[in-house]
Amino acid sequence: MTYGARHVAIIMDGNGRWAVSRGQPRPYGHRAGVEALRRIVRAAPGLGIEYLSVYAFSTENWKRPPEEVETLMDLLVEYLRSEIEELDREQVKIIFLGDERAMPPRCRREMESASARTARNQGLVLAIAVNYGGRDEIVRAVRRILEDPETAAEIDEETFGELLDTAGMPDPDLVIRPSGELRLSNFLLWQSAYAEIYATPVLWPDFDEAELRRALEQFQLRDRRYGGHA
Ligand code: IPE
Ligand code: IPE
Ligand code: MG
Repeated sequence: MTYGARHVAIIMDGNGRWAVSRGQPRPYGHRAGVEALRRIVRAAPGLGIEYLSVYAFSTENWKRPPEEVETLMDLLVEYLRSEIEELDREQVKIIFLGDERAMPPRCRREMESASARTARNQGLVLAIAVNYGGRDEIVRAVRRILEDPETAAEIDEETFGELLDTAGMPDPDLVIRPSGELRLSNFLLWQSAYAEIYATPVLWPDFDEAELRRALEQFQLRDRRYGGHA
């Protein structure tokens, strides 16, 4: 079954509230969030999704207590270690969005190994956004342009897009925000110019294939005009 959404981007939000509502500490929710990610990555190819971008850690999330940041970094390493066999077997290509330079070395090692191992895979592209901020991404691209002033005059929307972390990827068709919030929180700002937005009160750890189908069904009903006539 395909819904015409090639690139789906998900802001994986609501882990903390999910845990607290169960009288558990926030890391418990982050663990459950990883399970939701596993489910969605497995379901995506069967729903016609070719690119799945998931927001795992924002440039602003460093403001959280150090123990929580530590848990999130540990979970990234754990997820990559435990899933890499299956993802590779399923032809998933793993890439990362964000400035990896600020990531702890143990994460960077695992990230480099996962992307190198799956670089030639032809299936779903799984883009994991860690230390990612849409504004930071744009500033990094501008800095690269300034390093090479000769090409600066030739910059247009297309060439600028190729300097972003999502180079080579189509823009997201659908951005999903669980947890009831109605904001982008600095995710894929440039790329989401004409994305359809789907928000749901469901918290990320409760998100499953049925929820994803619901979002895609809603997407199918949208009339994408891109500024053209009705
Ligand atoms: C999303 O869940 C995980 C990250 C932002 C890393 P939260 O931790 O933001 O959960 P809530 O929003 O507090 O419920
Ligand atoms: C967005 O969630 C970032 C991720 C899911 C990684 P946040 O919980 O950080 O966003 P705000 O603070 O509610 O905007
Ligand atoms: Mg949140």
